[in-house]
Amino acid sequence: MGKHQCRIIIPDLDSQVDQNEEWIYVEKDGRRLKLRLHDYGQLYKIPGLYEKIFYEELNCDSPSVVCGLLGDALRETGNPDGDLRVFDFGAGNGMVGEKIKQLGCELLVGVDILPEAKEATERDRPGLYDRYYVLNLADLEDDIRKRLESYNFNTLVTVAALGFNDIPTQAFLNAFNLLQDEAWVAFNIRDRFLSESDDTGYRQALESMINNNFEIMKETRYCHRLSLNGEELCYHAIVGRKTGNVDIASFVSN
Ligand SMILES: C[S@@+](CC[C@H](N)C(=O)[O-])C[C@H]1O[C@@H](n2cnc3c(N)ncnc32)[C@H](O)[C@@H]1O
Repeated sequence: MGKHQCRIIIPDLDSQVDQNEEWIYVEKDGRRLKLRLHDYGQLYKIPGLYEKIFYEELNCDSPSVVCGLLGDALRETGNPDGDLRVFDFGAGNGMVGEKIKQLGCELLVGVDILPEAKEATERDRPGLYDRYYVLNLADLEDDIRKRLESYNFNTLVTVAALGFNDIPTQAFLNAFNLLQDEAWVAFNIRDRFLSESDDTGYRQALESMINNNFEIMKETRYCHRLSLNGEELCYHAIVGRKTGNVDIASFVSN
């Protein structure tokens, strides 16, 4: 079983199972566990399991794609602001932090809602982040807002964490509003949340942000990962610069 010391068994799944309902069996220490792929807290508890499922089995490459696109934009603009002061929102166990560090980063702060994410980061990638907070930004208290604002972030990166009941629009826009004007924003999102048929509020919120408070510099549609059935899950990676704060109260309902 090698370094991960667990075995993944992919069940024969009905093709109708949605991305956030997918599940697998994991055999570890003679026990068989049934885990949902979006039950990140359980996945992070087992060293290497998140990487093995998403990166080795399901070909996820989103941290490289999103951070690579940000790197391209920085090179093309000559990176006028110098070293990055990065807010990695939905940081998980640090896969994105590792990539962003390679871009030349003066400060790296991670936030995730799960204590298991922070524990896994400290266990598997100690010292990667300058600070890592377990926080719910949907409900941003004043002292937390002030502390995060004091970092003067000039970059927000959010990878594989929007949609599917993960980061709600309110929390993402709160994070956006913490940034300095002209900050870089790099994120990805499943294509369906930007389509006409979206009824989750994401399209409305992101459209308003993009039309009024954001200048897109780079965008690409790509395969975020395979589903357990082998189908490509298409995402948009978007990189741009903040032009002003979003008026969140005017349209966010969740
Ligand atoms: C698929 S993981 C992605 C982790 C990392 N960005 C990566 O690309 O490997 C999604 C992460 O978003 C976090 N998340 C979900 N809802 C959140 C919220 N409301 N606030 C902060 N983090 C959240 C989850 O706990 C999880 O760690």
